Amino acid sequence: MESKVIITGASSGIGKSIYEILTKNGYKCYGFQRTNADYYLDLSYPDTVLNVYSQFECAHGIAETVIINAGYSLDGTLIDLKLTEMVNIFNVNIISHIELIKHIINSWKKYNVKGNIILIGSQAALPGYKNASNVVYSATKAAIYSLMETLSKEYPEHARVNCISLGDVITEGELRLIKDKCILNGTSLDMELDKLKNDNLMSRLVTKEEISQLVLFVMSYQSLHAANINASAGSYIG
Ligand SMILES: NC(=O)c1ccc[n+]([C@@H]2O[C@H](COP(=O)([O-])OP(=O)(O)OC[C@H]3O[C@@H](n4cnc5c(N)ncnc54)[C@H](OP(=O)(O)O)[C@@H]3O)[C@@H](O)[C@H]2O)c1
Repeated sequence: MESKVIITGASSGIGKSIYEILTKNGYKCYGFQRTNADYYLDLSYPDTVLNVYSQFECAHGIAETVIINAGYSLDGTLIDLKLTEMVNIFNVNIISHIELIKHIINSWKKYNVKGNIILIGSQAALPGYKNASNVVYSATKAAIYSLMETLSKEYPEHARVNCISLGDVITEGELRLIKDKCILNGTSLDMELDKLKNDNLMSRLVTKEEISQLVLFVMSYQSLHAANINASAGSYIG
């Protein structure tokens, strides 16, 4: 039987690449998001998560792996952000995901399954990271990191929990942000991309495919638990 994987945000960018590469490697993947979804889920509404997850479990049983990937960043400085924008980004990036994890772990306990949770975090969550972007986005990603630290201790017999903290990866979402920066700074796309590359010790960016291979590795490495993996081509704090 194929091992089942739930991926949030598998319609574009990193999540889409993970979905494709895991499928090629024999996993049965289910994308939870708004567009091209196996299960339609709008993470802006945490109170809809249980219903969507229950539909999945009734149809397919237990998924052994969940990849917490969906998320977005915001442009702008704190004083320009509306309260509704702040609440929404927390709902999408963290609260709905915690709600989903809660129901999945409950099922793992009930059916005595040892599952695997992979959190897609960001370098922006690390204290002192010099390129941390929007403060509210960074706070959501700090919450992802903190979730890994605590969850890994709460259910070690049922859930292997690890976090992959990315630097900049060129995706649809990231390109939108970079293009906004070009307008703001009066720069070209190439200039902004060069800046991002040169901020890394390896003077290059990480690719979606590399992240997907790393996910495969984390899934297969059975003793890896409570790890925060820096997948950033050498982004650094300073
Ligand atoms: N790219 C980077 O440089 C970078 C760096 C650090 C961390 N990350 C993190 O990596 C993850 C993926 O980023 P990406 O660059 O691949 O972004 P992306 O290309 O914009 O894709 C984002 C995914 O999240 C889903 N999503 C967004 N809002 C949603 C909502 N309300 N409900 C359900 N799904 C929603 C989208 O699906 P729908 O729109 O179809 O719902 C889409 O599949 C994010 O958590 C991001 O913070 C990315």
